[in-house]
This record gives sequence, C-alpha cells and structure tokens, in this order.
Amino acid sequence: MRIDILTLFPEMFESPLNYSILRRAQEKGVLQIVLSNIRDFAADGYKKVDDKPYGGGPGMVMMCEPVFECFEHVKAQSPAAGRVIVLTPQGQRFDQAKAVELSSQERLILIVGRYEGFDERIRLGLDAEQISIGDYVLSGGELAGMVIVDAVARLLAGVLGDDQSSDEESFSEGLLEYPQYTRPEEFGGMKVPDILLSGNHGKIAEWRRQQGLERTKRWRPDLLEKIKDDSEKKK
Ligand code: 6GU
Repeated sequence: MRIDILTLFPEMFESPLNYSILRRAQEKGVLQIVLSNIRDFAADGYKKVDDKPYGGGPGMVMMCEPVFECFEHVKAQSPAAGRVIVLTPQGQRFDQAKAVELSSQERLILIVGRYEGFDERIRLGLDAEQISIGDYVLSGGELAGMVIVDAVARLLAGVLGDDQSSDEESFSEGLLEYPQYTRPEEFGGMKVPDILLSGNHGKIAEWRRQQGLERTKRWRPDLLEKIKDDSEKKK
C-alpha cells in the first residue's frame, strides 16, 4: 500500500512513523509512506497557504491552489487512483470497520489541514471523503492522520507476526478484550485466575469469551447496541 500524506508539517509525522510496527511495515516493503509539504506548492514568494475567510470571522482558511497543486504533483507519482481523504472534524467518524475497509486499498491520499479549515472547493474539487477520529477538536489534522495510518498499517498482510494476529483482538468482533496476565502468578496479593494455569485450552477460550462479553457490558454497553444494530441491518 502507498499512503500519501499532504501536510504543512511533514516533520510532525517523522517520529511516529519510524518506530516499531510502522517502521517494520516500511522496511518490509508492505507499506510506502510519502510525505509532501503543501507549502512547497504555494504560488507566491511568501509561501502563503492560508487566507482570511470570505464573509469575515476568526482564523484563517487553507487556500485551494497550494493544495490542488500539491495533489496533482503527488497523484502523478503513481498510477493507482487511490482513495482521497480529507481529515476534518466534520468527517465521518473513524472506527475499526473503516480501518479494515481502507486496509484493502492500493493507495490512500490523506490531505491534512491546519487553521480553521479548508476552502470548501478543496473537498468538492478533489471529490474527497472526509474522516474525523472523534468528537473533539484538534488543532490540526496531523495527529488524526497518524492515528489512521497506524490503525490501517497494522492490518496489512505481513505486518503483524503470526503470534500477534489482529483477528482475535479488541473490536475485531466488536467486543472488548479479555484480561491478560503474565508472570508472576501472584503480585501484591493478587493472583492470576486458576483457569489460565489449568492448561485446558477449551475452557480458557470459553472463559475469555465470557470475560470479553462481561467487560463490554460493564464498560462499553454502547458497543453491544452497535453489534445488535449491525446484525439487524444485515437481516
Ligand atoms: Cl481529522 N481534525 C481536527 N482538526 N480535529 C479532529 C479531527 C480531525 N478528528 C477529530 N478531531
């Protein structure tokens, strides 16, 4: 997969993308991340990328021209059309289902903004979908972009080892994960549940499923409602 990231702050991405799983994915050649600086495509000598909103109001708006110029430049670097995504709090909320959907694409083109937002013609002209990572406002889309890249990259074939498959983890079935323990068997008077020491794999699997369900009921009952709604929609 190729992920293009169009941003005013490419340096912000460098550290998060170069550790652990994301680093390994790129070293293996499963994932290629290409950062492009929108400011390099500013038309004037001052490298201006934002301007005052028509109609007045606070803040600055990202201008069309540098974003379109940057987009055309990036697009021509690879033949795959790619999914064009604008990161904005107005977008559809990102979740694990969206991560799975995006992980099947050959190419993603993420457009990341700062300031009060994008000129509306960027979304319209690029026919971009909009994604938000949650109902709160960040000072820019950069962190949201990193969240999406991480969630998508770890789903690509060959990125996680067999011993850390994403199939069994939290949210892959819509439930929270079961509790995990490692050595020692007792710590601060708290013991590892006997069942996990029993060696009975059938019983352990059943206990874990039950624990996942109970924890979801207790801590995230909204997820159970979502599973119910989704399965009713399928009928
Ligand atoms: Cl994608 N951008 C900004 N600025 N804030 C956000 C967001 C994105 N997602 C949640 N909050």
